Amino acid sequence: MAFWTLFLSVLMCSFYSIQSLKDVKAIVPLAAKARDTVMLRCEYDSENDPVYTVKWYKGRSEFFRYMPKEDPSMRIFPVQGIRVDLSRSSPNEVALIDVEWDTTGKFLCEVSTDAPVFDTKISSGFMYVINVPDEAPIMEILKKSTGSANTIQATCTTPPTFPAMNITWYINGIKVEETGRKSASFDPTYAYSKNRRVPHMTVSHLDKEIDDNTFQGGTIKIQCIGTLFHLYKSENVRFIEENRPQPWPSSVIGISGVTRQCLLPSWVCFAAMAIILVFVNLK
Ligand SMILES: *[C@@H]1O[C@H](CO)[C@@H](O)[C@H](O)[C@H]1NC(C)=O
Repeated sequence: MAFWTLFLSVLMCSFYSIQSLKDVKAIVPLAAKARDTVMLRCEYDSENDPVYTVKWYKGRSEFFRYMPKEDPSMRIFPVQGIRVDLSRSSPNEVALIDVEWDTTGKFLCEVSTDAPVFDTKISSGFMYVINVPDEAPIMEILKKSTGSANTIQATCTTPPTFPAMNITWYINGIKVEETGRKSASFDPTYAYSKNRRVPHMTVSHLDKEIDDNTFQGGTIKIQCIGTLFHLYKSENVRFIEENRPQPWPSSVIGISGVTRQCLLPSWVCFAAMAIILVFVNLK
C-alpha cells in the first residue's frame, strides 16, 4: 500500500512538473543600433506556482536576477558590453542601455518555480548590435549593351558591417536574382578570421541578358539596394542609355498625346502610327 502511495505521488509530481511552467519565451530583438536602449522580455506562465527566480544570461554569464523573496529583489552582475538600467527593468523586462557592438550575442532567460513544484525552463534569442553606416552601396557597371542581345554585368559593393548586408537588384523596377555573392573583409588575415565577428562587405554580381524590350524609353534603370535587417536601407541607381539612335525622336512627330497611350516600345508605336497615317491619307 505504501509503495502505491509513493508511486502515485511521484507520478503526480512528475505530471505537475511538466505542467507547472509553460511557455517560457525570451523576446530578444534580432538587431539593434549601437547606443540604443533595448528591452529584453521574458514571458512565462507559471500557472500560479510561485516563481523562484528569473535570470538573464549573455552566453554563460548571468547579468540579471530577479528573486521575489530577496531584498532587493532585482540584482545585476557585471558582464562585458552589458549595462542594465534597473529603474526601467521589471521581473519580466530588462532594459539594456547604450548597447554596443560588443553586446552582440545570445541572450537566455531562465525561469524557475519554487516549492512545491520545482521546475526550470530556458529560452533564448540572438541579438546583433550594429554600427549602422552612413554610406550607400557602390555600383559598378562592367559591361554595357552595345546593340541587341547583350548582357549587363554589374557589381554592387556594400559598406562593411557585421553581419554583412543583404543586396537586392532591380532592373526597371522588377526584382532580379543576383548571379553570385561573396563577402570580404578589410582584415589582411581574412583567411584566419572567417569566423570572427569582423565587418564584411557584401559584393554581389549581376549578369543579365538584355534585349531591346529591356530598354524603356531608351534607358535601363538598374538599382542595387543594400539592407541590414530593418535598421538600414540604401540604394544606388544607374541608368544605361540605349546606344542605337532613336528612329523618330518624339519631338519631330507632334502627336505625343497619342504616343503616351501606346504600351509597346516607342519605335514600334511610331511605326504603327506612320502606317495608319499613310492609309488615312490614301483614302
Ligand atoms: C538577409 O535576408 C534574409 C532573408 O530574407 C534574412 O533572414 C536575414 O535576416 C537578412 N540579413 C540581414 C543582415 O539583413
